[in-house]
Amino acid sequence: MRSPFSFSTRGIAIDLGTANTVVYVSGVGIVASEPSVVTMETINGVTKVRAVGDDAKLMLGKTPGNLRTIRPLRNGVIADLEVAEEMIKHFIRKAHGGPSRFSRGPEVVICIPSGATSVERRAIRDAVVNAGADKVSLIEEPMAAAIGAGLPVAEPIGSMVVDIGGGTTEVGVISLQGLAFCRSARVGGDRMDEAIASYVRRNFNLLIGEGTAERVKLEVGSALRPADGPGLMCRVRGRDVSRGVPSEIELSQAQVADAVADPVNQIVEVVRTALEHTQPEIAADVIDQGITMTGGGSLLRGISTILQDSTGLVVRVADDPMSCVALGAGQTLEEKVLRGALQAA
Ligand SMILES: Nc1ncnc2c1ncn2[C@@H]1O[C@H](COP(=O)(O)OP(=O)(O)OP(=O)(O)O)[C@@H](O)[C@H]1O
Ligand SMILES: [Mg+2]
Repeated sequence: MRSPFSFSTRGIAIDLGTANTVVYVSGVGIVASEPSVVTMETINGVTKVRAVGDDAKLMLGKTPGNLRTIRPLRNGVIADLEVAEEMIKHFIRKAHGGPSRFSRGPEVVICIPSGATSVERRAIRDAVVNAGADKVSLIEEPMAAAIGAGLPVAEPIGSMVVDIGGGTTEVGVISLQGLAFCRSARVGGDRMDEAIASYVRRNFNLLIGEGTAERVKLEVGSALRPADGPGLMCRVRGRDVSRGVPSEIELSQAQVADAVADPVNQIVEVVRTALEHTQPEIAADVIDQGITMTGGGSLLRGISTILQDSTGLVVRVADDPMSCVALGAGQTLEEKVLRGALQAA
């Protein structure tokens, strides 16, 4: 096996996600999976990267004045180009072994949301080139997700994939290596976290940060109310709005299901609209094959059941759903037949 730090690495696939960046190296597999978070430090007016990924996420919401913790992607697109570029550099260095006089830059396949505008595509491409890539190709996220989930993308069979990420939900119908239909909505895990934070503020007068809201979602979050009773319980700490002091409450699975109902319904609506717009021949395949879910949001309790009930189709969650997009993009580096899924940058 080739070392992930080898200077001869030629191909890198990057799923530059709103919440997590996953990096695949050709011939090796996934070498990094870390939060898309960067901490910048300013000393004597000079700003530099202090931490990226796991280390930076630990600092989110807890940084003193000279440190800023930034999530450079919002809603699936780059919101802070300079910081995003630093983050891409960090991950390419990690995968490629850093700049060397003796090696050319790697070939990089990078995933883009299907709804990205040409300006956003160019911004992503430029950031990857500035980070040291020799050649850049783009792949649309639903296509990469479908390949990574093992769907028969190269065959004349329509497959539907629903990728629920931190910032976006992407629905794609794929046949013969092309996106026959896609729809992207700026709703995903982040919206659920915001919905939980505002529910807690509204009902308990308690202010909580985005990290705490996400923890609540992971511990007791659910798209469905439990059949009877409050379900799982979790303790939540924050700041009491009126008294201004730290305070603690208890939240139930049922309450969190109410809190996230809006974003969950929006996701269901995106899928229903996609089904309504799918060509009849392909729709027939989707009825046969069902829907495959990928992305971290597909791990929310009950979300596949809600989607199944509201579409009448069989819904399955892919194995290792948070890695599918990077694995699928990586496959295009390994298998020549999949090159047709790439777009020149
Ligand atoms: N068990 C879980 N239950 C609910 N949500 C989860 C779970 N695990 C992860 N998530 C959520 O999934 C989201 C991250 O998923 P993922 O890594 O697929 O997103 P991303 O690819 O970074 O985002 P995007 O594709 O929108 O750019 C986060 O909002 C995270 O809180
Ligand atoms: Mg994603």
